Amino acid sequence: MRLLPKVNKDENLLVGIETSDDAAVYKIDDNTAIIQTVDFFTPVVDDPYIYGQIAAVNSLSDVYAMGGTPKLAMNIICFPSCLDSNIVAEILKGGYDKIKEAGALLIGGHTIEDEEPKYGLSVSGFINPKDVVTNANAKVGDVLILTKPIGSGILNLAYRGELIKDKEYNSLIENMLTLNSFARDKMMEVGINACTDITGFGLLGHMIEMSEGSDVSIKLYSKDIPILEGALEYAKMGLVPEGAYSNEKFIKDKIKVNDTVERVLLDILYDPQTSGGLLISVAKEKSNKLLELLKENTTDYSVIGEVIDKRNYEIEII
Ligand code: CO
Ligand code: CO
Ligand code: CO
Repeated sequence: MRLLPKVNKDENLLVGIETSDDAAVYKIDDNTAIIQTVDFFTPVVDDPYIYGQIAAVNSLSDVYAMGGTPKLAMNIICFPSCLDSNIVAEILKGGYDKIKEAGALLIGGHTIEDEEPKYGLSVSGFINPKDVVTNANAKVGDVLILTKPIGSGILNLAYRGELIKDKEYNSLIENMLTLNSFARDKMMEVGINACTDITGFGLLGHMIEMSEGSDVSIKLYSKDIPILEGALEYAKMGLVPEGAYSNEKFIKDKIKVNDTVERVLLDILYDPQTSGGLLISVAKEKSNKLLELLKENTTDYSVIGEVIDKRNYEIEII
């Protein structure tokens, strides 16, 4: 949010807009801080109930990325007046079910008429101020763990082009419907240095926010990236969303790519994600414990890189 004026000064504002973090954090007292965030987007699938769930999971994710527990949620919904009210009800039911699964409360919302449907949530969560996790505290020597496979933007495009196979669609949906609550619980149990969730800016975009915010560089292991089934094949066919290219254009000068890295993999790394996983930066000596705890995870997770001293690039892909 570099376009916003930096006028917010308050000693209790623990995380504001300066470090492109996932949510704002405001300290209420020594034991309580509120985490606040908002997110909404246009439908990624035709099924309104699934769309509502995905949008809600995505919105709740920013609270988990800060280490917090989501508590209060409000609907934001835009839809054309010609849209059947049953469809709107299905979207809201999807959102409600995920809010409930997260242990949060739906406390209201706001609806406006708009040409294209949009749905999401404004979520408030809580955390002890001393436990706040930001994207700006990765330490040299840390291990980087990604808790969900990537490639959902490419697969969503394959879905729209009616090319996606049932099996690929099912794993894509399951991936987007998985709350980051499990990964959040485990990373808080172990104690980690930094975290962000992977959404529209792609893995590399959110990783750069972490390295810039933390004043470090990152070595990324291209062979170890968990990728959704089918995504590589569709990327090879040229099915790459526009957003991947704009992400690339925006940050490519800060990335060093080893000659052996295939072009198609870069498409995946720049691919904008919907309801992606957490990128966690954890001290090496704690990383095995975290990996052990993540074993019960329903999604693919992997060590994908390490934090290194600040170089003249943000990320080196090897
Ligand atoms: Co985020
Ligand atoms: Co967000
Ligand atoms: Co954060």
